[in-house]
Amino acid sequence: MTDRSREPVPSSTVTLRVNGQDHTLETQHRWTLLDVLRDRLGLTGSKRGCDRGECGSCTVLMDGLPVYSCQLLAMQARGRSIVTIEGLASKDGLDPVQRAFLEEDGGQCGYCTPGFVMAARALLDGNPNPTDSEIREALAGNLCRCNAYGRIIASVRAAGR
Ligand code: FES
Repeated sequence: MTDRSREPVPSSTVTLRVNGQDHTLETQHRWTLLDVLRDRLGLTGSKRGCDRGECGSCTVLMDGLPVYSCQLLAMQARGRSIVTIEGLASKDGLDPVQRAFLEEDGGQCGYCTPGFVMAARALLDGNPNPTDSEIREALAGNLCRCNAYGRIIASVRAAGR
């Protein structure tokens, strides 16, 4: 049997557009988008919770849609526009969703908050005035172990206003 542990790990140079900026870097083919965001680009706002597509704490926007960055290979993000929690605020201040989460106490321990904020941003971009049931449906892929769902829904409702 061949010992494959000594073989070089396949990698390529890729350019990823993150928060409006292009980043060209050497990427192992097995690295996820979350690996690259956190460990190579230093964007640690996207959190590693379950690392298997269940909790949503790693949610980022890809071409405006929420995706689990732990479930995408970095290579799959080539040519796409990625927005992380670090990319939401502007020179004018926090994004209205971030502000609403602060004002409505939408985070408790805060670990899941970036994922919720990103999923909420995607919802409000397409539907600025969602019903509570639309908010629940849009956030169904995000889990909060502090069980702050009531405050989270109130935050998204306030951000819509
Ligand atoms: Fe990606 Fe949980 S860390 S879904």
